[in-house]
Amino acid sequence: MLICNLLASKGISCSNLPTVEIARLELKMGAGVVVLAEEGLTPTDIAEWAAQISEQPSWSDFPLILLTVSGEVDRESQRKMLALQPLGNLVLLERPVRPETFVSTVQAALRSRLRQYQMRDFLNEIRATEEALRKSEKLVVAGRLAASIAHEINNPLESVTNLFYLIGTSTSLEDAKKHTEVAERELARVSQIVTQMLRFYREPSKPAYVQIREILDSALTLYEPRLTHAEIVIERDFRECSPILAMAGELRQVILNLIGNALDAIGRGGTLKLRVTNTHDHSNGSRPGIRLTIADTGSGIEPEIRKSLFEPFVSTKGNMGTGLGLWISSEIIRKHGGTIQVKSSVLPPSTGTVFSVFLPLTRTDLPASALKEYELSDA
Ligand SMILES: Nc1ncnc2c1ncn2[C@@H]1O[C@H](COP(=O)(O)OP(=O)(O)OP(=O)(O)O)[C@@H](O)[C@H]1O
Ligand SMILES: [Mg+2]
Repeated sequence: MLICNLLASKGISCSNLPTVEIARLELKMGAGVVVLAEEGLTPTDIAEWAAQISEQPSWSDFPLILLTVSGEVDRESQRKMLALQPLGNLVLLERPVRPETFVSTVQAALRSRLRQYQMRDFLNEIRATEEALRKSEKLVVAGRLAASIAHEINNPLESVTNLFYLIGTSTSLEDAKKHTEVAERELARVSQIVTQMLRFYREPSKPAYVQIREILDSALTLYEPRLTHAEIVIERDFRECSPILAMAGELRQVILNLIGNALDAIGRGGTLKLRVTNTHDHSNGSRPGIRLTIADTGSGIEPEIRKSLFEPFVSTKGNMGTGLGLWISSEIIRKHGGTIQVKSSVLPPSTGTVFSVFLPLTRTDLPASALKEYELSDA
């Protein structure tokens, strides 16, 4: 009662609790500090306090003040001290305690508890932010899915539109039938792309070790008819490269986008240089990886477009482009822990563009356990 009056006189609200159990309950209910008298504590009490204190959340270090009985430090008091160890943030005050000492000890304990509550609020805020981020990340993935589908089906749909026009203006039934067959094939491709994309995003396949040269070769095979038709010369400089841990399908999408853009910029009769080599990225430590450069002798990119090149819906191709290719590509590269840079000139006679992509040998976004798994399966 005396203690309560003393603390109340300093503006600290205090309750006199009849039992240790009630004091423990108060701890749970948010008391700032508990003051106990040593003689009221049994070994069972200490064990129960210790159990409760060990269950505290990480931010909490509940302050206890124990008023001890005065006397010399003998074996018995040392033993008691040891028994009290599990009580954590414990301050021993030997009686008789000077009122100022007692009040300042309680004030210090309350300040430390207040700090702990601030830490709890801060942690809760971080958790809420993380949750919001996870949700927005999901939205980004959904947005990317929609964008990828729109981007990939744009060309076949364009062809179908043209084919319908041709069917409408055909003079012979045979021609119309031919065009219809092609249109059917293009529509089948659209449905295949949509199914593939949905599957790809729903159950993302696991990353595996891939040789970038193989992806480049398969992309070039796809563009073969267009390259020949436009008389574009391909210069390949494929050096010995380490395999990289990546999603092959996604990298293929990036390479198809970059080559497709280069071909659009060249139009007819230029050169496309493709180079892959082992390298180190010095912008972020010294990470080993590979560098892919795709250089064209096309029109170059105007400075005002260059500024927002990797943003969605930036295009100079009107109906022929969605302006999503480079945005999706940069997102995929970022996801793989890599970087993409561009250099371009619109000044004749040496117009052209070079895209340079760095991809680290191992993905930095994967937990170490997952990396091990892939390394093992690759061995
Ligand atoms: N190699 C390049 N040479 C010249 N301009 C380029 C090159 N690569 C990209 N660009 C410019 O950047 C713009 C954006 O490219 P991006 O691939 O994002 O979209 P897009 O090619 O216009 O459309 P889509 O990829 O849907 O076909 C292009 O419209 C073009 O102006
Ligand atoms: Mg493009």
